[in-house]
Amino acid sequence: MDLSTDYMGLKIKHPIIASSSPLSETLDGIKTLEDCGASAIVMYSLFEEQIRRENEAFDFFLESGTESFAESINYFPHIDTAHKGPDRYLNLIRKAVEATEIPIIGSLNGITNAGWIDYAKQIQEAGASALELNIYFIPTDLDMQTADVEQCYFDILKAVKDAVSIPVAIKLSPFFSATGNMAKRLDEAGADGLVLFNRFYQPDFDLDNLKIDLHADLSTAAEIRVPLLWIAVLYGRIKASLAASRGIHSSTEVIKYLLAGADVVTVASALMKNGPHYLNVLVNETQHWLTARGYHSLSEVRGVMSRQNVKDPSAFERVNYIKVLESFENPFTSGIVNSNRAV
Ligand SMILES: Cc1cc2nc3c(=O)[nH]c(=O)nc-3n(C[C@H](O)[C@H](O)[C@H](O)COP(=O)(O)O)c2cc1C
Repeated sequence: MDLSTDYMGLKIKHPIIASSSPLSETLDGIKTLEDCGASAIVMYSLFEEQIRRENEAFDFFLESGTESFAESINYFPHIDTAHKGPDRYLNLIRKAVEATEIPIIGSLNGITNAGWIDYAKQIQEAGASALELNIYFIPTDLDMQTADVEQCYFDILKAVKDAVSIPVAIKLSPFFSATGNMAKRLDEAGADGLVLFNRFYQPDFDLDNLKIDLHADLSTAAEIRVPLLWIAVLYGRIKASLAASRGIHSSTEVIKYLLAGADVVTVASALMKNGPHYLNVLVNETQHWLTARGYHSLSEVRGVMSRQNVKDPSAFERVNYIKVLESFENPFTSGIVNSNRAV
């Protein structure tokens, strides 16, 4: 079966891409991902804060210590240790492009449209085939209005699109009032791909020490539901490629995302947990499932269960919510649990 696909104009041999993660922090790691079957690699992110730190011209930002800066500085624990700054990042892309035959996708992570955008151009010059923008923004300012939050995304996209000619994907937050409309407008504003969705690392509380507990944990397969919904809703209605991100832990999730309408799926946690060789497992199992059902190419599969192709599109809407609640079997009244049991 032909698993080849097109992601933002990049022709790749199958739809399973290595998502941005520490696995791409070294050249060896990148080569291993390719050897293990990745059809493309999204590099770990170069963070706006790292660029600011490196660049004296941005010192005033550090001194002013805005709320959003303090918030994003804690994003990933590996930011201060493993990441060594913009020069190393660009060098690594150059070496990765030379050493591999698959597309290397740069990743910029930030929230303003200030100087760090210049690195988009440098990432292109280093040979990246495309760029992913991760706009990790938590609007904790209660006076910031919806339109202002959304405008950040458009300003960054425009600045980057003006600076580069390679395809640009935006890794989106699922937390918009009108997620579909946001996706449509980003598509119209020139986003070549939408990555649905970014995974937010909300803080937990450490009850022993009454401290904020910041650690990045891995995803679970249960997390596919939100991206699955929105990919199914967007399929066939926007031009931008759709990349599924979150919760792929087996070929089951890969196949569901393809049926919803994803052009590609991106995997991080499952590779962190099982090792990069798990990419091969995902590819082989996906191929096996599709072949066993008589599919010959991905185009026959993609979007089969999208909102526009299912018999009952209301399954994606409010009516489905009511049906789901009605279908829930109450264990206390159904006899599964004895409600008289002493607690
Ligand atoms: C340890 C770790 C580090 C990550 N680093 C980045 C990063 O640098 N940039 C980024 O955009 N996403 C980063 N991610 C998010 C992943 O690329 C991915 O979008 C997210 O984990 C959801 O996919 P998954 O369910 O396959 O893990 C990271 C995830 C993990 C677990």
